[in-house]
Amino acid sequence: MANVLITGANRGIGLSLAQQYVAAGHHVIACVRNPAAAEALQIDNVTVEQMEMGDPASIVAAAKRIGAQPIDIIINNAGATGGGAQSLDDFDIDAWHDALNVNTIGPLIVAREFKNNLAASGNGKLMTVTSQLAASTWPMGGMYIYGSTKAGVSRAFVSLSIDWKDEPITIGLMHPGWVQTDMGGPHAEITADESASGIISVIDGMTKADSGNFYKWNGEQHPF
Ligand SMILES: NC(=O)c1ccc[n+]([C@@H]2O[C@H](COP(=O)([O-])OP(=O)(O)OC[C@H]3O[C@@H](n4cnc5c(N)ncnc54)[C@H](OP(=O)(O)O)[C@@H]3O)[C@@H](O)[C@H]2O)c1
Repeated sequence: MANVLITGANRGIGLSLAQQYVAAGHHVIACVRNPAAAEALQIDNVTVEQMEMGDPASIVAAAKRIGAQPIDIIINNAGATGGGAQSLDDFDIDAWHDALNVNTIGPLIVAREFKNNLAASGNGKLMTVTSQLAASTWPMGGMYIYGSTKAGVSRAFVSLSIDWKDEPITIGLMHPGWVQTDMGGPHAEITADESASGIISVIDGMTKADSGNFYKWNGEQHPF
């Protein structure tokens, strides 16, 4: 039985990841902003923890509560778009700062705070859900807030894969697809269940030699 920590586990891709890991017999530490509202996570083999990704102190406090237990897999899944208006003339600077905290800085704090838990597993895997919009190959303009904060986290985790080359921890980056969630909307290409099952099989197959790679949910490598 693996011990799996997932951020943003109360809805969308994160909830499906949690449900699929539990169905496969694993234990999930489900990190959410509002535990009282996380009814779907009131199931066996799930421990719900409060974690606000935009607040480093909240991540540190969750890590203290979780303690030294080995964690085999961490999925930095929680993410924010940064609001609807993201053209050069009307982006919201406060929303940009918030998205930077949630999408870029928070996942790095998770890495720092749970490094020892991952190392204690002997074969820790740390997957961060970023986006195809983070890649230099993405052909569209706009989406300044979302694209830059996701590009930032992608680069940061490539750096981490280099800095942790001698640690028993594999770093992965993931474009989860265009997914039918509150963020992706109803017309997206794949369901949250399809995305989550693809992400789980990529994580299953990752070895230390793959550290720093950027994947699509279907297992293909994504260009940076
Ligand atoms: N859907 C897509 O097409 C798509 C495409 C590319 C990448 N992604 C990425 O995939 C990941 C999951 O997205 P999704 O489609 O499942 O989105 P979603 O349905 O909108 O869910 C977002 C999740 O992130 C959590 N979250 C947001 N801000 C948070 C904060 N400050 N602290 C803690 N949790 C926070 C939300 O919690 P609350 O319920 O408390 O808000 C929710 O659990 C995100 O990183 C997203 O950027 C999605």
